[in-house]
Amino acid sequence: MSSYKTKKTPGNTAWFTHDRFGMFIHFGIYAMAARHEWVKYYESTPEAQYQKYFDHFDPDLFDAREWAKAAKKAGMKYAVLTTKHHDGFCLFDSAVTDYKITNTPFGRDLVKEYVEAFRAEGLKVGFYYSLIDWHHPMFPLDKFHPRRNDANAPELDRGRDMTVYAKYMRDQVTELLTNYGKIDILWLDWSYPEEWNAPEWMQFGGTKGKDQWESEKLIATVRSIAPEIIINNRADLKQDLWTPEQFQPIEWVKDEETGEKVVWEACQTFSGSWGYYRDEFTWKSPEMLINMLVNTVSIGGNLIMNVGPTSRGYFDHRATEALDAYAAWMKVNGRSIYGCTMAEPEFKAPEGTKLTQSEDGKRLYIHLQTYPFGALQFPGLDASRVEYAQFLSDGSEVRYRAKAPSAVPSDHMADRSSCTVPTTVFVLPTVRPYGLSPVIEVFLK
Ligand code: GLC
Repeated sequence: MSSYKTKKTPGNTAWFTHDRFGMFIHFGIYAMAARHEWVKYYESTPEAQYQKYFDHFDPDLFDAREWAKAAKKAGMKYAVLTTKHHDGFCLFDSAVTDYKITNTPFGRDLVKEYVEAFRAEGLKVGFYYSLIDWHHPMFPLDKFHPRRNDANAPELDRGRDMTVYAKYMRDQVTELLTNYGKIDILWLDWSYPEEWNAPEWMQFGGTKGKDQWESEKLIATVRSIAPEIIINNRADLKQDLWTPEQFQPIEWVKDEETGEKVVWEACQTFSGSWGYYRDEFTWKSPEMLINMLVNTVSIGGNLIMNVGPTSRGYFDHRATEALDAYAAWMKVNGRSIYGCTMAEPEFKAPEGTKLTQSEDGKRLYIHLQTYPFGALQFPGLDASRVEYAQFLSDGSEVRYRAKAPSAVPSDHMADRSSCTVPTTVFVLPTVRPYGLSPVIEVFLK
């Protein structure tokens, strides 16, 4: 069994740390602007102007089953959809607002279709819910608000009552957790509790954290309906899940206060934007995408990879190609991801590789991110512990031998300890076998 233990939390994370790989979906009327989900903030778009997206929103090519199939094919085991993003637009039929999808030309409850389709494919279902709301009339202005620079901002801000908005959030979260069956994850987003140099007229100094959101109450509401649901930390209260975003952690994420290892999930994009962005061209290569998944699991984390569907409701060709890269790799290498975690500390990844290990400790996976033609030396792995080794991609045997210890390190040895510690040498073909980041599956005795 893996020797790593994480901090105990209220939600059920057992399935989550097994499944490892999920799909994030950012969808909303900002997909029509097609220039970032924060477009309303970036361009300080007046409400009346933003309304044109609402009035014309009609993702006629949307088919939840296609989304669910694409996620499943890519090897993803769960999904999290933006039920409401910062612009306040709701993808579900909420009774407490008119600013919702059923009032657009599309007219359907997209959240309902999403839940049904993903469940039908056997995926776990999560909801993202934005704490920030740039549409709600009671949400106080702050440095992230689209109206922050308006000449009449102080008047606009006057009388906004956060307690009314906090209640609205509890009502909506209650709807989300009662109207759609069992929900597995609630992904709240996000808080900025730090003081900053806000103009005096801005309420709360412009900070938004657990006191303003009334996070204790919000989370109590959630737990009273769904005690085991996984909740992230972004309501400024530690819950089940830590969520580093848009960077690659290099070690197991820890609770900053206690130093304990925690359950964590890196959230990443294919191209830098979460919402559909037509003219964004920093799309990650297939190799990078695979490495991101492997790197994450190799230090005990999950990866949730984002897709921003077009405003017509489908995944564009770039997103589809990125998902296909995962599909091809996961089809044969999924075993090195599901039910796997960071390798035991006794195993140190040889240069150019990453390691994952099955939770039961019986299989070690060597991910060859840089292909070492001819042979791979694995100092610290005693050949007598190896029962069998194969390439995971095609189940072809990888022969190995114990390296005889030598007193004198040879010049080409990057790691000179390899001459003294027990070392296994895996014999590899000169040319990398087909597929990115090949994996050697080592059955341990
Ligand atoms: C951020 C952004 C946001 C995105 C989210 C995903 O906090 O505000 O647009 O939804 O991260 O992690």
